Amino acid sequence: MDRLCARRLAGVMSELPILVTGATGKSGRRVVSQLRAKGLPVRAAARHGEYIFDWTDSGTWDAALEGVRSIYIVQLDGTKLVRPFIERAAQHGVRRIVLASGRGIDDPHYAKDSSGVFEGIVDSEAAVRGSGLEWTISRPGWFAQNFSEGFFADAIHTGELRLPAGDGAASFVDAEDIAAVVVAALTEDQHAGQIYELSGPRAVTLTEAVATISEATGRDIRYVPLSVEGYVAELVQQGLPRTDAEAFADVIEPLREGRDEYVSDGVQRALGRPPRTFVEFAKSTAAAGGWPA
Ligand SMILES: NC(=O)c1ccc[n+]([C@@H]2O[C@H](COP(=O)([O-])OP(=O)(O)OC[C@H]3O[C@@H](n4cnc5c(N)ncnc54)[C@H](OP(=O)(O)O)[C@@H]3O)[C@@H](O)[C@H]2O)c1
Repeated sequence: MDRLCARRLAGVMSELPILVTGATGKSGRRVVSQLRAKGLPVRAAARHGEYIFDWTDSGTWDAALEGVRSIYIVQLDGTKLVRPFIERAAQHGVRRIVLASGRGIDDPHYAKDSSGVFEGIVDSEAAVRGSGLEWTISRPGWFAQNFSEGFFADAIHTGELRLPAGDGAASFVDAEDIAAVVVAALTEDQHAGQIYELSGPRAVTLTEAVATISEATGRDIRYVPLSVEGYVAELVQQGLPRTDAEAFADVIEPLREGRDEYVSDGVQRALGRPPRTFVEFAKSTAAAGGWPA
């Protein structure tokens, strides 16, 4: 292809939309806004919001994939739908895919997979690698935004985070950094074939994390370590089925055991800068009204 043709093709490609699944979630929402800040066309897909797409209804897939050049894939945990979805994407002429995976996925001892989440993601990674498309895999550790939008947010709001996590620490990663890596992988050629393990710059204990949020918000918030049995009993008392309560306890186990303390270099490798600190996350989230009083 001569240089003029290549430039024309690049121009046409940049006008095609980028499909972002999970577009209302913690990483997808930020990927959408960072892509739009670059002036790029985005199809923001989820069951609610701008563009309706449902993993469990394959009748919604073709319309979502029509005319798309690349995709950020946030899968439905506990399923193996990414494999057929990628096959469909290839038929539509999609060229590039970026998969949301997670650290520990290649370690059979990382966590008990009581709800099939790891099994599904392992299958998705294999499907992505074998797809023949340009691919990048994002493997973040625990998101810092679990404290503001996710798993721990309600507890932070009530002022008491009660978990069976002991003194465990994790190198929490800011979802803004996850999104920045995903955007780079969607828009730049040099990330094809890369697996980026993503973390913050150092491990933070739950006591320190909660104290940092407390200071950033000016509110009194504390962390209360529970035994696994005590935690499960509390959730059951709140009306959760015992199997679900035990599955939540399983999710916390790697945190308690310090399996997410280690630091990964993915943000530095992908973006050429260090990851944001937990203090930066807490201050910016508080300033943006992320923890209303
Ligand atoms: N949180 C962590 O600390 C952590 C750490 C490592 C890896 N991960 C992995 O990262 C991924 C989650 O990413 P995230 O935190 O950015 O997402 P998230 O905040 O959990 O949001 C999930 C997104 O998926 C959409 N969704 C849910 N059910 C759907 C369905 N049936 N069809 C279509 N869309 C659906 C939701 O929107 P609607 O409800 O509007 O459909 C939402 O946009 C998961 O695979 C998780 O295992 C998370």
